[in-house]
Amino acid sequence: MKILMVCLGNICRSPLAEGIMKTKLPESFSVDSAGTISLHEGEHPDKRAVRTAANHHIDISKQKSRPITRNDFKTFDKVYCMDIDVFEDVVSKTKNEEERQKVSLFLEVLGDQTNAEVPDPYWGDMKDFEDVFQLLDKGCDRIAAQLNPSHL
Ligand code: 4NP
Repeated sequence: MKILMVCLGNICRSPLAEGIMKTKLPESFSVDSAGTISLHEGEHPDKRAVRTAANHHIDISKQKSRPITRNDFKTFDKVYCMDIDVFEDVVSKTKNEEERQKVSLFLEVLGDQTNAEVPDPYWGDMKDFEDVFQLLDKGCDRIAAQLNPSHL
């Protein structure tokens, strides 16, 4: 099972989601992340995201930003989008129903429609990054339980 986490820049939310998710699934799962824009391509995650993950003993410092590609819809089984704009952008890149079925909003698993988006912490401070970490941690727990019931 291959999982792709997607946000806008692939330097804040989806790198954190990738790092967190990897701690919750066995090695038989592979987890990667990407962005819908290529502005930060090749860059490591935002320092605040790296620091927030490190505060929780997760190392995301070696990840590198990359834009989502058409090939990702073939490689990955599940594509989780951090917000509605990202979701719509990713869905617009799908070519058929099989690819479309792979794409969902990350927070849909929490079943709370009012909180369906992972807020972008890019323009915020360390508290915003920590809040995002907690939200991602909750979502990843639910997704891991769905995909790998022995997680619980
Ligand atoms: P991310 O955050 O989508 O969580 O990686 C952002 C990163 C960069 C920008 C916006 C959001 N930006 O405008 O460059």
